Parts: sequence; C-alpha cells; structure tokens
Amino acid sequence: INNGVAVTPPMAFNTWNHFGCNIDEDLAISTMNKMISLGLSDVGYKYFNLDDCWMAKERTTNGDLTSDPTRFSKGIKYLADYAHTKGLKFGAYECMGTKTCQGYPGSFNHYSQDAQTFADWGLDYIKMDWCYTKQNNLDPRVVYPIFRDALNKTGREIVFSICEWGVDNPYLWGKQTGNSWRTSGDISCKWDRMQYCIEQVIGRSKYAGEGGWNDPDMLEIGNGCLTYNEETSHFALWAIAAAPLLIGCDLNSIPDSSLEILKNTEIIAVNQDIGSVPGDCIYKKDEKQIWKRKLSDGSVAVVMWNTNIESQDLEVTWEQIGLSCQTATKVRDLVEHTTYNNVDNGWKEISLDSHAVKMFRVYC
Ligand code: DGJ
Repeated sequence: INNGVAVTPPMAFNTWNHFGCNIDEDLAISTMNKMISLGLSDVGYKYFNLDDCWMAKERTTNGDLTSDPTRFSKGIKYLADYAHTKGLKFGAYECMGTKTCQGYPGSFNHYSQDAQTFADWGLDYIKMDWCYTKQNNLDPRVVYPIFRDALNKTGREIVFSICEWGVDNPYLWGKQTGNSWRTSGDISCKWDRMQYCIEQVIGRSKYAGEGGWNDPDMLEIGNGCLTYNEETSHFALWAIAAAPLLIGCDLNSIPDSSLEILKNTEIIAVNQDIGSVPGDCIYKKDEKQIWKRKLSDGSVAVVMWNTNIESQDLEVTWEQIGLSCQTATKVRDLVEHTTYNNVDNGWKEISLDSHAVKMFRVYC
C-alpha cells in the first residue's frame, strides 16, 4: 500500500524465531542496544518488533490491550519511546482472530480500538497473524482491509504486515491491503524449510513492489542450524526476492560470521533497490537455480544457487539475465567483494559447494 512506509522492504529484528514466548522488556532493551552497537541500525535494520506473547492474558476493563504486568511492567509505550530516543522504530504483533496463536487476546471485535491503542503507544509496525479466525469464518480479503483502514484512520505511519501464511493467495490482494504478506507457513531453522519458504515466492515477483512485498518469513541466520554457505544462500535469496529482512537470532550471542552476512551492504543494496520489481527465479532444474533482479541503475543482480547436497558446476549467460550487451564492463561478486572487468557472454563452470550461492551484480 501507498502509506508512506516500506517503500523498500522492511528491515527489522523480530523476537519470534529465536525467543518464542520467552520475551521481556530487558530483552527488548538489550536487543535494541545491540542493534545499535553491532552497527545493524546503521546498515538499515531500524525496526525492533515484538512478536506473540507480549500481552496480558486479559484486556483492561475498558477492553484495551495491555502488556504482561510482570514481563513488560513498564508498558509498550515506554519501549517505543526508548526506541525513538535511540533513532530506532518499534513494532508489535496482534492477531485478526479471537486469540493470538499463543492464546493471548486477539483483535477480533476490537480492530479500531486496537489500531488506536497502537498509534497512541507510538508504534511503527504491526504484524497481524491469522489464528482463531475459523469460528467466525473470517475472510482475509475482507478483514485485513478493515484493519488497514483502522490503522490509516489513526493518521500515524505504520508498517502493516499481513501474516495469513499464504492461505488465500495473498499476493493477489496483498498490495492493496498491506506492506507485506506472508507467502507460506512458518520457517524453521532447517535447510529444507528455508528452501521451501523461498520457493513459495517463485513466479510472484510481479505482484510485489514499492510499498508491498512478498514475505517468505523471517531469517534464521545466526541460530546455529545452518552452515555458513546455507546462511549466505538464505540472505542472498531473501535479498534478491526483495523480501523483508527480519533478523531472528539472539543478538547477544550472534556469531561473527552470521553478523557479517547480515551486514553485507552490497547485498542489502540489492534488497533495498528503489523503483525496481523484485527478483525472481529464471531457471530451476537439476538442483540448480538462477535468480535475477534488474536494478534501477540498469545493472542486474544474479544469484546462482546450488540446492544440491553435493557440489556442482553452474553457468549463466548474459542473454539469460536480459543484459543488453555481450561484454559486461564490470561484474561485482557481492559475497567475496571482488570485481572482474570485461566479462564476455556470461559465467561458465562456476563451481559451487553444497548449498552455496554466488551472487553477482553485472553492469553493461
Ligand atoms: C504464527 C506466525 O506465522 C509466526 O510468525 C509467529 O508470529 C507465531 N504465529 C506466533 O504465535
């Protein structure tokens, strides 16, 4: 949607992938501090987002949402104010149904009231989940727009993240409704599941763009279950697909190698390119994938991905990626940070290790 935010894919930290319900205000404060001290906010990760389980089990007597009295005793507004004084932005989670997935009060019957509460607290990002919607037969194409309008009415600029797990073809209506829409069920910290999630956006790049993005779910980088090559693939693919980059690990113990991946500014630049359609998969065969994204300066980003457990050779031609010249004046390797000049026709015999990628930016 054209609501002034998420013009490029949102970049955030979110509590769910690593912490689940094990969250409190100390974690929020220490993580925000880490976003700054680790240099993550400098490269674009500005939003800190609380996922499920921040609420008290009951609404107040007025029917307002309120935070867990022990784990979030200072309240959500306090944390949002803290974020703002540090130059960050703050987001939270709710659910369209009668309860959140973890059983906290859902927003159903309270859409306007909750949108107003979020605006009053100074929130900048709201993720709306899809649990407990069956008994009222909710249609996501009907109710998500109601919440969008409620947020809009508050007058505050708020990123609106739709989380109905790709159930009702959200890419078809997502762009009029929210700033991003999940295209699958939950990611988990496993290679196969990561591959499954990104493959759900294949062929759907055309539905996304400025203000509205396909969301293959949050990042598992830094959670210790993917190899270095797998974490690099994960980041390269999310970047080229113009997916939201939502960090989901513990910043108080993130390995240096994972931090380096998340802070790769050349790859982030591909993700945040202004005015171009998201990248998509243009070749998928024999456990080999080629993805490309045409960037606004005329260059083309390419990801060559070996999804095989064994190493194998991949190749790509300039024609295949729609380059208008035969000789690329410059090919930049966005992972190795090296440059090659005057490369004819394409790349042949690129040997890729198990689950590894090459990511290039090619200039005519
Ligand atoms: C389901 C969502 O898809 C997840 O991202 C997370 O928000 C959980 N619910 C929280 O209960």
